[in-house]
Amino acid sequence: MRILYTCALCVVGLAYLFAFIYLFHTYSGRDGGTGLTYQDLVIAYTGSGKGSKLESALGGPMSSMLPKDEATALITWVQQGADRPTFDTFVAPLIEKRCATCHDGSNPHLISLAGYDNVKKVTDQDKGTDIFTLVRVSHIHLFGIVMFLFVVGTIFGHAYVRPLWIKYVAMAAPFLALLIDVSSWYLVKIYHPFAYLTMAGGAMLGLSFGFMWVVSMYQMWIGKTPKAVLERGSEAIG
Ligand code: HEC
Repeated sequence: MRILYTCALCVVGLAYLFAFIYLFHTYSGRDGGTGLTYQDLVIAYTGSGKGSKLESALGGPMSSMLPKDEATALITWVQQGADRPTFDTFVAPLIEKRCATCHDGSNPHLISLAGYDNVKKVTDQDKGTDIFTLVRVSHIHLFGIVMFLFVVGTIFGHAYVRPLWIKYVAMAAPFLALLIDVSSWYLVKIYHPFAYLTMAGGAMLGLSFGFMWVVSMYQMWIGKTPKAVLERGSEAIG
């Protein structure tokens, strides 16, 4: 059992490490700075508050593709809701003339600007991760992490920890942290400072997992069997 527990803990530890790298890679730097900050989380869940993809492209890399007055007219159209009639009369011919050479859909590496539906996709405001994506990620997270916590918690259940309440807290805390974390994603959309809850949830899960991992490994391989446990054994035999 000791070999099994050790292998499981090692792989789970590795998985946690990869999860951390992935998390960092996905969320850090959204605010333009380095590292993972409060602002990164707010942007990820609620959007940057800046304009659409089309607006930032026209103000950035695509600014040299059309005269300034046409760019302004295009941005005005986006900001006024990107309606269909104006698209047909004004936007479609403009795109045909200025953008279609590259964005007609024939190059799979470039976004297609052919037709209203394709253009509409890049005119949407950045609202952050949408609710349905959150629902999808929530169910994967809850199912996956509950398994991982169950494995680690079961192994840690064999550890000798006194006073006992520390053991209870270490076992229950990551489950609570998981619930806090997942629900905070939705709450951030309503009120930005809930992003601190996301951070607190992550930290709480990490700390309790780390504690259970270290205590389990230590007691299996380094620590001596506590006297109280040895006596308990002889009582049972005697
Ligand atoms: C000479 C070819 C060319 C023309 C003409 C062109 N683009 Fe692009 N466009 C690109 C390339 C290449 C990229 C991808 C590189 C990048 O993201 O900087 C791109 C990217 C984009 C993006 C996506 C940026 C993102 O955030 O992913 C948008 C939106 C866009 N172009 C809009 C336009 C519009 C509107 C026009 C016409 C006014 C236009 N482009 C004209 C080559 C072109």
